Amino acid sequence: MSRVRLTEVALRDAHQSLMATRMRTRDMLPIAEDLDSVGYFSIEAWGGATFDACMRYLNEDPWERLRTLKKHITETPIQMLLRGQNLVGYRHYPDDIVEKFVELSAKNGVDVFRIFDALNDVRNLVLSIKTAKRMDAHVQGAICYTISPVHTLESYLKMAEELVALGCDSLCIKDMAGLISPKDAYELVRAFKREFDVPVCLHSHSTSGMAPMSHYAACEAGVDILDTAISPLSGGASHPPTESLVAALKGTPYDTGLDLNLLAKIAKYFREIREKYSSVMSPISERVDVDVLVYQLPGGMLSNLVSQLKEQNALKKFEEVLREVPKVRKDLGYPPLVTPTSQIVGTQAVLNVLMGKRYKNVTKEVRNYVLGYYGKPPAPIDPVVMKHIVGDDMPITCRPADLLEPEYEKVRKEAEELGIVSKEEDILSYALYPQIAVDFLKGNLKEEPLEPPKEAVSSPSYIGPMEYRVEVDNDVYIVKVEPLGMEVKTQEIVEGGVIASMKGTVLRVKVKEGDNVLEGDVVAVIEAMKMENDVVAPRSGVVKKLMVSEGDVVNPGDVMMIIE
Ligand code: CO
Repeated sequence: MSRVRLTEVALRDAHQSLMATRMRTRDMLPIAEDLDSVGYFSIEAWGGATFDACMRYLNEDPWERLRTLKKHITETPIQMLLRGQNLVGYRHYPDDIVEKFVELSAKNGVDVFRIFDALNDVRNLVLSIKTAKRMDAHVQGAICYTISPVHTLESYLKMAEELVALGCDSLCIKDMAGLISPKDAYELVRAFKREFDVPVCLHSHSTSGMAPMSHYAACEAGVDILDTAISPLSGGASHPPTESLVAALKGTPYDTGLDLNLLAKIAKYFREIREKYSSVMSPISERVDVDVLVYQLPGGMLSNLVSQLKEQNALKKFEEVLREVPKVRKDLGYPPLVTPTSQIVGTQAVLNVLMGKRYKNVTKEVRNYVLGYYGKPPAPIDPVVMKHIVGDDMPITCRPADLLEPEYEKVRKEAEELGIVSKEEDILSYALYPQIAVDFLKGNLKEEPLEPPKEAVSSPSYIGPMEYRVEVDNDVYIVKVEPLGMEVKTQEIVEGGVIASMKGTVLRVKVKEGDNVLEGDVVAVIEAMKMENDVVAPRSGVVKKLMVSEGDVVNPGDVMMIIE
């Protein structure tokens, strides 16, 4: 009798997918003991975007959250999501930081580490897997699921074999975009179960609406663990509902044996939580997004593309960009589209279409990706595109973190000099998020207020576009939503003005007043959606006036400088 076990994701992925990762620890604690008594395989409660969000928006110490949850959740293993060498940040960290972070996560209460790499490059996973093993934790090796000619059953089996050989205690098929069909879920789980002795977990999102069917297919193939979210936090960009799965599997060989009455009590609590957080919920993440099935792009990425095009007044090019994304992805060797590759591919596709010429403008991230600094792409990069982007530079062939100097002692000294260290964990917070951590640890941050539920925008009283902050699988997007048919106000054209085309932060200003520039010269760099975008001179001339300096936030249409 093969019982299926569940991982409850309410305290991590579910509120990250639906509520911009804003759930407070004090809203988790009243239900923690009930969750603990359900009998889940694990409760996912830490990692992913929660670490950043705790400090940045909630004025909470992420380590303190973990310790507090651990006091209330004593029977069920606490699980975290770790991005391999990227930990819970967005860049590769040196090995000494990775080791310390994993050690302290385990010491503070993480029992199960689910570890993945955006490119499925196992070299980026080895150290965190080994460290978590050394700390006696359960290590779940995760494989990012995507669809491409090189992502075959054989390729997934090969990666799974490497993960098992590294000592992973279980395997996870991580379908972050909700793309996996019941048939593929069946075949993949079946193959893993046939080849390996370890439990297999399926993690899927409800985005496309297929997840419950894929879950059932996975059960028929012998899956051991499924990820679900208690019903009020389920559906849309989140996960299939826990209670529905428990009920559906009742009396089958896959019966979870979980108590629906207890789950109903927990659901009642989370209904209030959903209501309480309705102001941070986005209509985009609540609905079923079938575009995922047509374009095979994660929902979050589609809304990201829409917002980028809108900001540039080029929404009419949406279809063209949709056709360009798969081409860029192919050129770049079919990376799975998840943080950070989804932004890298998406932004480049937008640039290719807007510039009217492919790879005329290339982001720094694409260049670094092509040079191997994120890891090995699943398939070789198109040689013509590669040559065009990096010329004669050769990509690195080693593990990216091999090129990083140890950092721990340096950041420890810095943090101590700043007077922000009251425990060892603070050094890690500082290593991962230097700016936020200093502000947070000095007590300069405030908890973001939670607004009462907003009234829906209806067109008669419509006064302008609404901005939403959308978070999908660790990616943060600022999405502007306005009813179709509304005219977008055209920007006043300033003679000789260099106009910001994206909302973002000015990272660098490369000219000063009086400088001579040529048409096409890079005059500034804007960071938008974690991407560096060059701003080029629209004409040759002299920089007459600078209106921005480094660190300024610009909106689309803002005049950054005047070239005459
Ligand atoms: Co997820």
